[in-house]
Amino acid sequence: MEKQWWHTKTAYQIYPKSFCDTNGDGIGDLPGIIDKLDYLKDLGIDILWLSPIYCSPLADQGYDISDYYNIDPRFGTMEDMDRLIAEAKKRDMYILMDLVVNHCSDEHAWFRKACEDPEGEYGKYFYIEDCPDGKRPCNWRSYFGGSVWEPLPGHQDKCYLHMFHKKQPDLNWENPKLREEIYTMINWWLDKGLAGFRIDAIINIKKPLPWQDYPADRADGLCSAGEVLKHADGIGAFLSEMRDRCFLPHGAFTVGEVFNEKPEELPDFIGDHGYFSSMFDFNETIFGGSGNGWYDQTPITPNDYRSCCFASQKKVGDIGMLSNIIENHDEPRGVSRYIPEGECSIPAKKLLATMNIMLRGLPFIYQGQEIGMENVEFQSIREVNDISTLDEYQVARKAGLTPDAALKAVNRLSRDNARTPFQWDASANAGFTDGTPWLPVNRNYTRINLASQKNDPDSVYQYYRRLLALRKDPRYAETVVYGDLVPVFEDQDRVMAYYRTSAAQTLLVIGNYKTEPQTLTLSSKIRKVVLNNLPQLKTEGDTITLEGYQAVILDVSSDS
Ligand code: GLC
Ligand code: CA
Repeated sequence: MEKQWWHTKTAYQIYPKSFCDTNGDGIGDLPGIIDKLDYLKDLGIDILWLSPIYCSPLADQGYDISDYYNIDPRFGTMEDMDRLIAEAKKRDMYILMDLVVNHCSDEHAWFRKACEDPEGEYGKYFYIEDCPDGKRPCNWRSYFGGSVWEPLPGHQDKCYLHMFHKKQPDLNWENPKLREEIYTMINWWLDKGLAGFRIDAIINIKKPLPWQDYPADRADGLCSAGEVLKHADGIGAFLSEMRDRCFLPHGAFTVGEVFNEKPEELPDFIGDHGYFSSMFDFNETIFGGSGNGWYDQTPITPNDYRSCCFASQKKVGDIGMLSNIIENHDEPRGVSRYIPEGECSIPAKKLLATMNIMLRGLPFIYQGQEIGMENVEFQSIREVNDISTLDEYQVARKAGLTPDAALKAVNRLSRDNARTPFQWDASANAGFTDGTPWLPVNRNYTRINLASQKNDPDSVYQYYRRLLALRKDPRYAETVVYGDLVPVFEDQDRVMAYYRTSAAQTLLVIGNYKTEPQTLTLSSKIRKVVLNNLPQLKTEGDTITLEGYQAVILDVSSDS
């Protein structure tokens, strides 16, 4: 793997709507992000990914774009955006926008024109087909439920394709003109000084054509989008064109949201000359998934978490660098998911951070993760805003779950868990807004908030700072960033441990993923305790005893 500037960095995802509101309308905004740049810099962050802030009806919270060239007034103005880019630069920070080009909004001018004249130029920007007597071209199920086909407004004999919500019509990448529009737009943003993009839902841009049914996997007679993707070949031509026309000439950093890639394609995606710089590792997030829906997903155990992480590490080897996450805006809070119920504590949160951030790869912190924000206890489905959760609730109800059971099942995985406002302090609305937040603040904000952790050396927040600082500490950086990862103690129940080794150094990362103490015999001498999530470490001869949820990073380099 060739070295790149971004390998040594740490990234952070901002969900703008819920980060910091400066004008009291209950919606986070760009001036709010600018206000917090120093905070993020001090935490150890270099790269910021902003979830979409383009003009949007917000049917899917900005992942439905109605104008790629403007900022939604709810988030601010283009001047604010220019100022954000400039202020970030001053601090040696980099801004990534979210590139959502599998689909746009049904309120985008292209789609409006397509509805006016489906046979015209803009009709070809989308997938529009004849649907005589309502007969759909194929039986695919959209990610948010129901058929991917929807009648075209004004033309009941025609329908258009939407892999996501019906307000998110898919763009026709087979049309070279559409691709040109997209590349022009990408280059326009990169010319403005963006460092690059997080690339949304990109695996979906290639459809297996011609339209055909695949075996139905639920009583609705439809087949999942995952099944559809298995039959789609040839995405590489689109992705390499986009790379060559946009990303390479600008030296842009890109991270793909890639699911369902074929294993042998990894070098094409993130190898030295890959389509993208990096892509997210979702192995833990998809664990236990069921074709029946969220209600049927098997919860992940500590041993499963370990296997998922190690499997990804093994798969990627030295091909490239994955981007590692504990959570994002599409997932529940990691501490509520990867720490078994009833065991979530401050040491457990620090353990999870240690295990994830010391993996080989680029760490992406999601806003609020650094203060240990937790899932929300929704009291009623009416408190949920997210379209995906609302759909999964219906799926669970149809499968026979009672309203209570269905709520409980979707609660666990709801995307709104991570979308509640950032908890800045213990004042009203957690200091997020002077107005009424668009989504209620988590009720636990007086207990979990930044202000109470900022100056507490034992806080989750201060631990994150120390952990992230290791990536830049000249004593450890080479090993933390580039060292090989070698799992150890894999047959020990609920111990997650691995070596990170470089030519000059061996670090041992160990966590006791249990509430009871565990004793382990080490095969090398401890030179130094680099980081410890508890005040002490018990050692005796060549054994160490880790307390419940204790995590340590040890320098165990041999004398040479
Ligand atoms: C991605 C986004 C998600 C969105 C979907 C459709 O998965 O992360 O939030 O709903 O794409 O754009
Ligand atoms: Ca605002």
